Amino acid sequence: METDEIRRRLEYFRDLGFTEIYKRESGRISTAPEAVSLPVISPTLPSDVLPSMAPANDTLLAIQQDIGECRRCRLHEARNKIVFGVGNERAKLVFVGEGPGADEDAQGIPFVGRAGQLLTQMIEGTSKKEGIPIVRSDVYICNVVKCRPPENRTPEADEMATCGQFLFRQISAINPKAICALGSTAAKALLGGKDGVTRLRGKWHKWKDIPLMVTYHPSYLLRPYNQNAKREAWEDLKTVLHFVYD
Ligand code: URA
Repeated sequence: METDEIRRRLEYFRDLGFTEIYKRESGRISTAPEAVSLPVISPTLPSDVLPSMAPANDTLLAIQQDIGECRRCRLHEARNKIVFGVGNERAKLVFVGEGPGADEDAQGIPFVGRAGQLLTQMIEGTSKKEGIPIVRSDVYICNVVKCRPPENRTPEADEMATCGQFLFRQISAINPKAICALGSTAAKALLGGKDGVTRLRGKWHKWKDIPLMVTYHPSYLLRPYNQNAKREAWEDLKTVLHFVYD
């Protein structure tokens, strides 16, 4: 690959907020990928270190094809289905969760288990109450990582960085009016930083130029003692829905 092309790609990933890129050994997948730091643009980096770059006029189909039968990180080992995303390619609102659970891994569709049913209820119930004529299929729903982490553990930093390039491409291709990050993993992937949901929720942030609201993950809201959080999540969603659809 030409030096200029490598430089262009490195600048692209740096602008997306990447500080490291994980190196895949040619021919086989390393379980402990070697991180290549990106603070300085290095035109000598070999091209196989670089993830694929978003082409102009990127589409969800092209992104899904680039993911292919992905084996870029260890999460591929135990997954059944890659859970790419679901909804309207031209959605004005994108929800981002953490990663597929058991139901999603079996069906290949995000947020179809108990947490997903709650998310659907929240989207459709709040919209109806607020007089906003949308249903779940009008928005787009995806996750930071596309394969189920074993035992539903939190995705590791390198897994998020590897899969994050596809999340960023999904959001860029859709170019929604707003993003709603569900839980601290999504917030971290999109905003960086270490703050949790309690600190971040209830106010607008930005991913690139797109307004972003952080709220509680529906799994957290399913726990019986989180009534206060439930009320706050409904408030956050109301704010987002009015901002996007009024
Ligand atoms: N939790 C998530 O974060 N994503 C899903 O798709 C399901 C549960």
